[in-house]
Amino acid sequence: MEKIVSFCKRKGFVFPACEIYGGFANAYSYGPYGVELKNNIKKLWWNKFIDGREDMVGLDGPILLHPKLWEASGHLSGFNDAMIDCKECQMRYRADNLIQETLGLDLEGKLDEMSKTIQEQIKCPSCGKKNWTEARFFNMMFKTEMNGIEGPVYLRPETAGAIFVDYKNVVDSCRVKVPFGIGQIGKAFRNEIVARNFIFRVREFEQMEIEYFISPETEWEPLFDKWLDLQEEFARELGAKPEDIRRYEHPKAKLSHYSRKTVDIEYNFPFGMSELFGLAHRGDFDLTQHQKFSGTDLTYLDQTTGQRYLPHVLEPTFGVDRAVLVALSAAYTEEDLGEGDTRIVLKFPVKLAPTKVAIFPLLKNKPELVAKAREIFTDLKGDFKCEFDDNGNVGKRYRRQDEVGTPFCVTVDFDTLEDNAVTVRDRDTMKQERIKIEELKGYFIDKIAK
Ligand code: GAP
Repeated sequence: MEKIVSFCKRKGFVFPACEIYGGFANAYSYGPYGVELKNNIKKLWWNKFIDGREDMVGLDGPILLHPKLWEASGHLSGFNDAMIDCKECQMRYRADNLIQETLGLDLEGKLDEMSKTIQEQIKCPSCGKKNWTEARFFNMMFKTEMNGIEGPVYLRPETAGAIFVDYKNVVDSCRVKVPFGIGQIGKAFRNEIVARNFIFRVREFEQMEIEYFISPETEWEPLFDKWLDLQEEFARELGAKPEDIRRYEHPKAKLSHYSRKTVDIEYNFPFGMSELFGLAHRGDFDLTQHQKFSGTDLTYLDQTTGQRYLPHVLEPTFGVDRAVLVALSAAYTEEDLGEGDTRIVLKFPVKLAPTKVAIFPLLKNKPELVAKAREIFTDLKGDFKCEFDDNGNVGKRYRRQDEVGTPFCVTVDFDTLEDNAVTVRDRDTMKQERIKIEELKGYFIDKIAK
């Protein structure tokens, strides 16, 4: 993990936020390559789950939503984690995580038991003393104020809320018929007690969420399983190996009263198996609550049967930042080329690579080579994310592009001026082939866009 964190900073993928001020709250910025990678992941998701399906539509709702929404959803009263502080060194911990990691016990939600267990059995991992406060619950929503609104307004802790409050607008304005889904990508904010493990747990992150509306009479299990398969398929499209993905079904006793089933898709991150995505059957809890709190009828009229009902919901949810971490950790490879030479290469799936094609003139000081390479760069850059590089020798440029996962490098050499062909070098095999310039765009369309 440390290797990936420092590599990400060195190569412009992810930087610690506000570093010139000494960093801030374990937050991160996505650098020039990171933002391309992240955008490619979001594009992949949108193509797969929205554009690629007839039963899905997209939405982009606000981050600041009506405060009543969070009362209705239960977030105001129940979106809590338990924290505990060391009185000696002032370190703060999430109580359930501390117990889980030290004693392997799951006491999540049981405040008194957590306090007692920590006070009696656990020393502060930071200073080694045993002098604790009581454990107490802490609401994880960020509060702010808004002109003209009385009382606090909250930054959304999940994107899902915006989907539920616009569900009626979508039904009334578009020709959607149950079963159908609404998907959204956007920021979510959680005042996590401890932000850690790089971009795995941060306080400001992005989610890609779907609310999939079904009839209460539908046999939901096959649909649920299909969604799980699709979530795993998406993880594999990020580059995850099948053996690094597993499912974890939440025990019935720990489910919310309205949920029939909740399953996490876990991934073998560099720090261990942890939640990547999730899928929950939420029944009609959300629509029932919003109908009650808003006083607006949210029932759906089935035009063929004439039946009116509140749809049930399957909720597949995906974390963007965790998806980025999967793509990075699955792609990061160190290859021993012999004689003490190690090649670092990010073996991203082509669609995710931040730069698709790098174009080089063989020599920087030969204007005719530079002009030809620039011509090719100008021609390709409207179709693919390209980079022009004339720094150092070609071997060094290859290595630089390998490190940021560029799948193809094009070199313009002296022969190009005679035969109008270039050398295309493949990132993974390091094989080179000669391609006519006039065929280059078609070649890359086949390799990249399909
Ligand atoms: N609407 C359901 C929901 O929000 P969740 O399991 O709390 O469910 C969904 O969050 C996904 O969001 C997680 O599977 C994870 O990928 C991502 N996520 C949650 N908290 C996060 C955090 N603090 N930092 C980064 N990603 C997070």
